[in-house]
Amino acid sequence: MKIGCPKEIKPQEFRTGLTPNGAREAVAHGHDVLVETGGGAGAGFPDEDYIAAGARIASSAEEIFAWADMIVKVKEPQPVERKMLRAGQVLFTYLHLAPDADQTRDLLASGCTAIAYETVTDANGTLPLLAPMSEVAGRLAPQVGAWTLQKANGGRGVLMGGVPGVGPARVVVIGGGVVGTHAARVAAGMGADVTVLDRSLARLRYLDDVFGRDFKTSYASAGNTIELVREADLVIGAVLVPGAAAPKLISRAQLSEMKPGAALVDVAIDQGGCFETSHATTHRDPIYEVDGIMHYCVANMPGAVARTATIALGNATMPFMLALADKGWRQACEDDPNLLNGLNVHAGHLTYYAVGKALGIDVLSPSLALKQ
Ligand SMILES: NC(=O)c1ccc[n+]([C@@H]2O[C@H](COP(=O)([O-])OP(=O)(O)OC[C@H]3O[C@@H](n4cnc5c(N)ncnc54)[C@H](O)[C@@H]3O)[C@@H](O)[C@H]2O)c1
Repeated sequence: MKIGCPKEIKPQEFRTGLTPNGAREAVAHGHDVLVETGGGAGAGFPDEDYIAAGARIASSAEEIFAWADMIVKVKEPQPVERKMLRAGQVLFTYLHLAPDADQTRDLLASGCTAIAYETVTDANGTLPLLAPMSEVAGRLAPQVGAWTLQKANGGRGVLMGGVPGVGPARVVVIGGGVVGTHAARVAAGMGADVTVLDRSLARLRYLDDVFGRDFKTSYASAGNTIELVREADLVIGAVLVPGAAAPKLISRAQLSEMKPGAALVDVAIDQGGCFETSHATTHRDPIYEVDGIMHYCVANMPGAVARTATIALGNATMPFMLALADKGWRQACEDDPNLLNGLNVHAGHLTYYAVGKALGIDVLSPSLALKQ
């Protein structure tokens, strides 16, 4: 198969869809790989690394889109990229179609077959191509929280681990899923006093079993939440209610009950945020203050650590990418229902029910799409 990886063009996106190691594996499987010049640079992969892996370098995205059977990317195709997609071409990338009617319309019009990273599942029903980015954002959250707590950034001037004779920062993590667990582990590793809140007792039991010595757990009732938040130096918001906007767990009025200069890191901002006063920010201007409380609300946190994030994403996508390339998308999806769950668009049909419901578009069942 001809596998093409264009340079990402969404503002401030430094990740790339194919690492040199991914290219090497694809070449070893007998596929041709074409990568746009400079595409890996943001993640620290020069063109020479791809050439050494057996890939060829293209001078433009146009060349890649015109040549490739399958396009591998990170972010959803931008309007100029959507115009270059064509019938019969496979697109494998994050799409997030439900809130994006324009992109959905363009993908349907292109006739391409689009498989979305975010809806591919695994045997446990979790989302293996979203998890690496949650791991990255989770581990990054205490790091940016610690920075936000520094005096020059408007914070309380509290050091995460304290020092001998001075107690550590109190960190509250709301939501103990993938993001929350990784955030709590790193915050505890920095020496902070950490409590994780969740509404799932099963999850709290798991966290207590595995990490009981590193951090505490608490049931996320409204009462427990505000009690802990009042005493916190840093609060990390990491909740997810699948298919819904994030619930607002700290109101504006409650900010006045917090310690002045305390920091809120709202990782759930990509689902609307779990604090009433959150609004999305960028890596260029990540923090702002409301009523004396510092907010960090960057919607694409993994972009800050593009190299780690690119490698982590590549590790997760590689087996699926190779299956698509080795077998062709139809056979690969027929053999693997988890990959079939990733099918969102095929030959002018929408094939993912939640997106159809969100956008009011008829859906062709994915199993019927396999026969078209
Ligand atoms: N900003 C970023 O760059 C970035 C990157 C990755 C993930 N995220 C977001 O982080 C959030 C968490 O993702 P995840 O992968 O950890 O999800 P997850 O499903 O693994 O975990 C979510 C947890 O929240 C808990 N929860 C739900 N409602 C709650 C409530 N009211 N109070 C307390 N806990 C509650 C659930 O029980 C679950 O354990 C999502 O919104 C995700 O989109 C953001």
